[in-house]
Amino acid sequence: MTFVHCELINKNYLGVPISSLIQIIKRGYFTFCHGEVGVDDFMPYLKTLPEIDFVYCSLPKPEYFKYWYKMVNQAPQISYKKYMQLTVEIMLLLNAKEYHLEVNDGNKNLVFDAFKGLGFHHEVMPILYSAPLDSWSNRYARKRNWDEMVAFTLQEFKMPKVMYSHEYLDVVLERRSSSMNCFDPAIGKGLLVKMCLRHGHVSHGIDMNMDRLKVAIEMVEGGIGKISPK
Ligand SMILES: C[S@@+](CC[C@H](N)C(=O)[O-])C[C@H]1O[C@@H](n2cnc3c(N)ncnc32)[C@H](O)[C@@H]1O
Repeated sequence: MTFVHCELINKNYLGVPISSLIQIIKRGYFTFCHGEVGVDDFMPYLKTLPEIDFVYCSLPKPEYFKYWYKMVNQAPQISYKKYMQLTVEIMLLLNAKEYHLEVNDGNKNLVFDAFKGLGFHHEVMPILYSAPLDSWSNRYARKRNWDEMVAFTLQEFKMPKVMYSHEYLDVVLERRSSSMNCFDPAIGKGLLVKMCLRHGHVSHGIDMNMDRLKVAIEMVEGGIGKISPK
């Protein structure tokens, strides 16, 4: 494991200059960064990444923002809007060719505003959120309320006819003939990791919840060696 000491993005938080730690975890070609968007500076991690082709994120929805913090026994230090702006900033810094983002009415406009004028085509479809329950089975946590999947792509893109997040990534990543480097700024238990392992891609990502990241890391440990990057 690599520990990186970095400065806060907002050095004047509450008028106090503080620094914090991000932790970069490598497993084979896969990397994970434990840190909090809005508090930690992720530049040292982003600089270690290869060229990213594909970004996926089930963006935390405004109504669940406090819930994700409760899971790590913390409270957000920044507003939801600021969190979203920083997350979009991280994703755009990577200059990927395609972004597949799960949004709802509470963050859709913010995402569309950020991608406006950048030359991406976009497609939208309804989607039901799903994420792995553990690292070893094919069980998924599933939501029943509809969100939307928005794909911002430089080339024309046809969305698959599916219902759940895991089905979407499964089909989209299977279609690609060459290996891609993928990234998720809220990687959690690793839906992206699971589908990358299944289809010969590599993934990288950030999350503040180590218990959730551990599930994703265990998946790679189970599948290591099968993947060779391009
Ligand atoms: C909707 S879930 C993503 C689910 C993911 N696709 C999976 O496979 O588990 C949102 C994730 O965002 C993370 N998160 C929320 N706020 C964050 C922040 N400020 N910094 C880093 N991660 C954050 C949560 O810990 C949670 O794992």
